[in-house]
Amino acid sequence: MTAVFACNQSDARITVVESIHVQHRDPFTPYDETPSFDYSSFEALPPSDEILPQVVGEEFRHRLGTRPLDLTNWLPTDRETAPTIAMKRKLLAERRDEVVSLFPGGDDVAQEAGELVSQWAGCVSTRNGIDALIDSALLVADDLLVLKPSRTNDRHADNSQELLFVAGVVCAPSRWRLSAKMGLDMLKVHRPVPKYSDHIGSGVNTTMQRLAVERPLWRSNWTLMDHPALFQPTSPPKPLVMHPDELWIRIERETFRRLSQTGGLLFTIREFQQPLVDYVRRGRDVAQTLRTLLQRLPDDVARYKTILPYRASTIEWLERFC
Ligand code: HEM
Repeated sequence: MTAVFACNQSDARITVVESIHVQHRDPFTPYDETPSFDYSSFEALPPSDEILPQVVGEEFRHRLGTRPLDLTNWLPTDRETAPTIAMKRKLLAERRDEVVSLFPGGDDVAQEAGELVSQWAGCVSTRNGIDALIDSALLVADDLLVLKPSRTNDRHADNSQELLFVAGVVCAPSRWRLSAKMGLDMLKVHRPVPKYSDHIGSGVNTTMQRLAVERPLWRSNWTLMDHPALFQPTSPPKPLVMHPDELWIRIERETFRRLSQTGGLLFTIREFQQPLVDYVRRGRDVAQTLRTLLQRLPDDVARYKTILPYRASTIEWLERFC
């Protein structure tokens, strides 16, 4: 067993937990490291209203939920941008293999994606291939994932091209490993996601294949987390905390852009988090929406999201805010 220490920020008591997660409240320190200073008074930047989860329809379904992206607001800068970039810089220096990956043949799409992001940030890209993508990832808070079109062997498919995930600089993974996804198509990337292929597998493929350079898209996704670290490539073996007072809501804003030269696709992810106690105080409708979403979540999806152990107690706890 790997015994690692959990440090209680307020009184610096040390307790042993059977996990590689170090319990702390600093989003910018990896889940398995101890923050270098006391973050107990840190206040996370709350996610904006437009990316909050919504109730759609009468029962649970994964949904595409893609909307047209206003490019003037592509990768916004805010007060978490600088600390996020500092975190990325440290991860790239100390744990590069965990945050950068390139699949053979991905250099051209990685470079074009890097140039696009650099240009958007007002800089000129001077390096090639994956280095261009890394440089650009240090100009924005968002993670950058690049897909490349590839011919399929399926002559009966509507469109004989599929998109493979070939390059990435990912410093805020929500419990998935970048290296495990390289070279995979969308169905295989999403294999751990219960009900994905039934609900949206072909919809995602079609939407991504048809994505036009001049019509970028965005969507959002949500989960509850028992740890606020942005860099969290694995799940703990058991919940780190159980009480809803200690949970966080984690909402990601994703954007999708077609690359005009190579035909590749740039997928960006930015994670926002808020302590659940603060989130539910945004309004009764916000608390009611979350309660409904949790009530409808099938067990297998709740387990995948690592919400299952505290789902029932959170639904009960939410009553007082509804
Ligand atoms: C419209 C497009 C897309 C939709 C609707 C979609 C949907 C989803 C959903 C529902 C999840 C589960 C997350 C959760 O419930 O907490 C997920 C996870 C994920 N998605 Fe997507 N996705 C899309 C595009 C992409 C693209 C282009 C990539 C690029 C590689 C990608 C990579 C991932 C990864 C790596 C995960 C985590 C999988 C794991 O846990 O092993 N997604 N996606």
